Amino acid sequence: MIGIDIGSFYTKIGSCDKKNNKLNNMVMERTPQNCIRNGYLSDINVLSDFLNEILKKKFTKEKKLSFCISSTDIIIREIVMPFMKDDELKNALKYEIDQYIPNSDDYIVDYKQIGHDEDDKKIRTIIVAAPKEMISGYLNLAKTLKLRLEIIDIYSNCIYKSVKKLCKPTGSLSVINVGAEYTDITIIYEGKYAFSRIVRFGGNDINEIIANMFNTDFKTAEEYKREKPFFIDDENYASLRENTEKYVSSKLSEISRIFDFFESSYHKSINEIFLIGGTSKLTGLKKYIEDYFKIPVSGNDDDLYTYFMPAFGSLIRGE
Ligand SMILES: Nc1ncnc2c1ncn2[C@@H]1O[C@H](COP(=O)(O)OP(=O)(O)O)[C@@H](O)[C@H]1O
Ligand SMILES: [Mg+2]
Repeated sequence: MIGIDIGSFYTKIGSCDKKNNKLNNMVMERTPQNCIRNGYLSDINVLSDFLNEILKKKFTKEKKLSFCISSTDIIIREIVMPFMKDDELKNALKYEIDQYIPNSDDYIVDYKQIGHDEDDKKIRTIIVAAPKEMISGYLNLAKTLKLRLEIIDIYSNCIYKSVKKLCKPTGSLSVINVGAEYTDITIIYEGKYAFSRIVRFGGNDINEIIANMFNTDFKTAEEYKREKPFFIDDENYASLRENTEKYVSSKLSEISRIFDFFESSYHKSINEIFLIGGTSKLTGLKKYIEDYFKIPVSGNDDDLYTYFMPAFGSLIRGE
């Protein structure tokens, strides 16, 4: 099976060996422009031609497909319910869903049990509701690719699964995936999924700061960003660094409120941050986040960790 992650900047495609333990084939290419916006696919034909080219070259034997998706329009709620049987739980959740989503007919809803409370008197579940309009884009894309679509999973669940498999997390870990437009925060507590949120922050924002300061275009800013170590303490870039810091710290304060929410509901503090996503490569970002939160920030330069955790997670079954 192949896992596809269509990011607004890079599309990541991977396939697993039979045991689903390793990604054995990883391909990453720039996503054609204007094809995806906040998780909604907008040009299925262009995307289909683009993906077909890659599949023809690198994934000839594969017949099955999974997608991982992320959008601020996907509603994710963590709900604690009193202990009950499966069919009772289904009905009770239906009721809960109507509380959270007034027009629930426009959504595809699914749920997953994420744990029991210590005394087993409570069940923790996550409810996920994705707009039908969004999901139909992926169904159509799979159809034009002539592949059997087995799974559509959300980013945070995929990241949780791959981090669990590859990093065996302990304590309270926050995985921060900084992409081009959005940042996904996934909190894993004692090896279990706790909750996730999305913040509107990514590499494109940095490009914009650079482009505005130097009056250049996106492409030039993108190159500058990758080449110049402007985000570390270097007087050559003092004013760019200052602008970037101001912006990044305002975004980190949004993330800090997400941590506060976790800490007040779990009575535990976050003790490690794992940084992934293309923007984690920004020189100096890791250290800046570490200094801001005063929590150790780790990462791994390997593409598997930087880019392929969501696609890999979408291929991991069970959990
Ligand atoms: N060396 C680098 N330094 C800074 N930013 C980088 C570097 N390499 C990639 N990026 C940024 O990573 C982002 C793409 O990461 P990715 O996780 O694939 O995002 P998405 O999933 O949103 O497409 C882009 O904003 C790109 O500019
Ligand atoms: Mg991404």
